[in-house]
Amino acid sequence: MRILVCPPDHFDVAYVINPWMEGQIGRVDRARAERQWNALMEQVARRAELLEVTPAPDCPDMCFTANAGLVADGRALPARFRNPERALEEAPFTRWFEGAGFEVVRPGEDDPFEGEGDALFQPGEALLWAGYGVRSALETHTALGRAFGVEVVSLRLVDPRFYHLDTCFAPLPEGRLLYYPAAFDERSQRAIERRVPANRRIAVDDADAMGFACNALRVGETIFMNRASGKLVRALADFGFEAKALPVDEFLKAGGGVKCLSLLLDQAPYPRIQPAPTSPICSESVELKGHLMDSGGLNRALDIVTDAGGSFRVTSISLAERKDQESRAELRIVAPDEDRLEGVLGALLSLGAQRKSPVRTARIERVTQAGVAPDGFYSTTIYPTEIRIDGAWIPVERQRMDAVVVTGTGTAPWARCALFRDLRPGDAVVCGIDGVRVRIPEARESGEFAFMNASVSSERRVETAVKAIAWEMRRLRERGGKVVVVAGPVVVHTGGARALASLVAAGYVQALLTGNALPVHDIELDLYGTSLGVDLSRGRPVHEGHRNHLMAINRVRAAGGIRPAVESGLVRGGIFYECVRREVPFVLAGSIRDDGPLPDTLMDLVEAQAAYARAIEGAEMILMLSSMLHAIGTGNMTPAGVRVICVDISPAVVTKLADRGSLESVGIVTDVGLFLNLLAQNLVD
Ligand SMILES: NC(=O)c1ccc[n+]([C@@H]2O[C@H](COP(=O)([O-])OP(=O)(O)OC[C@H]3O[C@@H](n4cnc5c(N)ncnc54)[C@H](O)[C@@H]3O)[C@@H](O)[C@H]2O)c1
Repeated sequence: MRILVCPPDHFDVAYVINPWMEGQIGRVDRARAERQWNALMEQVARRAELLEVTPAPDCPDMCFTANAGLVADGRALPARFRNPERALEEAPFTRWFEGAGFEVVRPGEDDPFEGEGDALFQPGEALLWAGYGVRSALETHTALGRAFGVEVVSLRLVDPRFYHLDTCFAPLPEGRLLYYPAAFDERSQRAIERRVPANRRIAVDDADAMGFACNALRVGETIFMNRASGKLVRALADFGFEAKALPVDEFLKAGGGVKCLSLLLDQAPYPRIQPAPTSPICSESVELKGHLMDSGGLNRALDIVTDAGGSFRVTSISLAERKDQESRAELRIVAPDEDRLEGVLGALLSLGAQRKSPVRTARIERVTQAGVAPDGFYSTTIYPTEIRIDGAWIPVERQRMDAVVVTGTGTAPWARCALFRDLRPGDAVVCGIDGVRVRIPEARESGEFAFMNASVSSERRVETAVKAIAWEMRRLRERGGKVVVVAGPVVVHTGGARALASLVAAGYVQALLTGNALPVHDIELDLYGTSLGVDLSRGRPVHEGHRNHLMAINRVRAAGGIRPAVESGLVRGGIFYECVRREVPFVLAGSIRDDGPLPDTLMDLVEAQAAYARAIEGAEMILMLSSMLHAIGTGNMTPAGVRVICVDISPAVVTKLADRGSLESVGIVTDVGLFLNLLAQNLVD
């Protein structure tokens, strides 16, 4: 067995390209490094033949020969380093491979590939484990499979400390494995578990992983490593190996251990697969257009790709030179398999990306069980969507998120959003992402609104924001536009009821969506001057006050509902009094914590959802005031293009609601009573 090594004559930490190098520049004790290297190589040389490459003076990392390339079967695939600091090593290593008589194979494109550091054969099997995500590119894995006639399993590294596969993964003979699971993403961990049964895997703990125990060189039955716990030594002994710990901590300063210092030149013979197996890695190109830079769209797109374990290349980009122009970027997305490619493309689609592949007709599957969609259903977003049917793009009606698209052809093809519960056997549901196109509307000029997405709004900012909202509401009222208010009972507790009632009375609210509690406390306030038993004018609980809200419920129940309670003169003021008086429709959606409930409260939630959906049809603005429950419910059924203003005291709730990926959504973190009083001052007083 031959192993390529490189004496550490010029070893140093001269730059930082991994977390281990941080703080280590100039701190290498070269003499100590040489002693450690000699001690290791002396032991290895007893069991294998060592070949040396001459170290180059300007290559301080060249002693890490594992990164020189990948060698098997007389072939060498030289490395192409990601970092320019190490690219200088490529020429001397390649010259060495050529001089030693290896057939040098060049991978196709210029994607980074860092040799055995990121590609490890399973001894004796036609299987190559290949790492990507930090240094080597996923794009190179197909070429690896072809060059060596093996199946390649792509593993995504997610911890920058374990930047190469060989820092956390060491395949052993007879299908065994030593590895550190936390260095990999979930899917890769599952892929490893599927290939290597639990009784053949040793998962090392954090301490062994940090001591570079997985960066192990196996020669025969001996496994060399920097350090190993007693537990690990025993586990390896159970597998029939002798663990030999030889400290190389001087090299750890550069992020390298025993395996990094050695490149295998004779991999155990394996049954080459002919022709090479087809790689599951697949790619597709998409185009993104719009304000990619200021809206952060490009960043989001690239994050989607990497988070899903894919990789990308920006194949062309043209940036807008002026504010009124659009930017355009074309990306080639590479994913480890079809499944993930489809997931990535689906997510990019909802950012408005267009696929470059020829337009395909939407794939339709029929519903076989009422209320259940076919497995591959396309799930909708808040954005206007079109479906390709019979050679034409058909706009989807009733756009909302988390629905499916049902299509049909009556006199003309149609498509509309439907909920699972609406599905009937035989319905045609769009599946996958073929023939689906999402159009992200251009953001309205946000002006005053732009800053409101800041997580906490100061008092002055709230005042400015309220002025901007008031201005829009006034214009909406003038042209007969529709404003829907979604509110929780905090509105009453914080002294905002009178302000909201005055907005209803002045014609600024066209529908009110809430639960049981808001009308209860609003009517309690009108009848007894308290809200949950607290006298709002003095801010103090009143004697026996807690009964007040129950009494209010009881009296409305006796009257037969809110409208009869108003019409009979029982209720003489407040939010619901104004709603009845002004014929402003309200929908009360019940919940498990409701007292009573009031006769108007819809305790059938499917019915309540449908009533909410009807109430927001045609809305141009929705004010969501301090009710997480009802605001989220409403947000889910609201298409993009509706101005959504979310007011809540909790920044987390505001962020959740306002961050719908729609620029029309804004959040204001403040007390809702304060907000409503300011708004009423601007619009009514
Ligand atoms: N007696 C009853 O019948 C009764 C009482 C309470 C709630 N409920 C029902 O429970 C459901 C959920 O109630 P919900 O909407 O109150 O609860 P929720 O938890 O969904 O929302 C309350 C929101 O108000 C926010 N908030 C608290 N203080 C605030 C302030 N000063 N200013 C601004 N925001 C503030 C919170 O951060 C939270 O997001 C509703 O259906 C409601 O009708 C019934």
